[in-house]
Amino acid sequence: MAAPLVLALGGSLLRPEEAERLAWLSSLANLLSECEVSIGIVVGGGVAAREAIELATRRGENDLAALDEIGITATRVNASIVSQILLDAGIDVFAGIPTDVASAAQSLDEHSVVVMGGTRPGHTTDNVAIRLAIEAKAARCLIATNVGYVYSSDPKVDSAARPIESMTLSELQGIVGPPVHGKAGGSSVIDPIGVQAAIDNNLPLAVLDGREMDRIEDALAGKPFVGTRVEVG
Ligand code: UTP
Repeated sequence: MAAPLVLALGGSLLRPEEAERLAWLSSLANLLSECEVSIGIVVGGGVAAREAIELATRRGENDLAALDEIGITATRVNASIVSQILLDAGIDVFAGIPTDVASAAQSLDEHSVVVMGGTRPGHTTDNVAIRLAIEAKAARCLIATNVGYVYSSDPKVDSAARPIESMTLSELQGIVGPPVHGKAGGSSVIDPIGVQAAIDNNLPLAVLDGREMDRIEDALAGKPFVGTRVEVG
């Protein structure tokens, strides 16, 4: 059987305020029902994680691991939503939300799709997806987020930021910085801890705008896609 693929879905893709959310979830289900390889999906916490972490911080919680646990809970809620939609669409999804990558990889041997959220404090779901890809011997890990590319610098603050179509893992590390977990709910284009894991295990990545389902479709099919290819090196 072909090697599985792993797809990280940034929690921002499930924003409750986004009117198109149900349509987006149904197109995801359509896409996955036609996919010929098994797929591990790792869902982020998005607005639910950010709001809950912010509220706990304002109430005085300053233990990073405790705040991370709040974020993990949000990722699992979002993972349950995605899992249920795919089950309802008749897809062979593992019925449960694994809490570690080893058991998720094992379930991926037996099912077409496995959906999970976070695992333990100290990183984000990007790192979980990359770890799952390594464990499941996936050919590539796709990171679907709400920006089109990895940029040379933060486009929100630098108008000269340039989108990058192809780069190496070491170049990506130069942009995201050293592998440290700064704060709960903190956001870089990809978790630097995951980038380090990809470097250590020679795992290529793809970063793309997950709001555009055709980009996910192309990347899953191994075709050229709009986004950033991150190759080993
Ligand atoms: P996310 O994966 O959504 O991270 O997890 P993020 O980078 O903050 O959000 P996106 O990628 O921009 O959507 C939310 C938070 O949950 C905790 C971290 O605090 C993370 O920031 N978390 C998540 C963990 O501690 N461990 C995990 O395995 C997953």
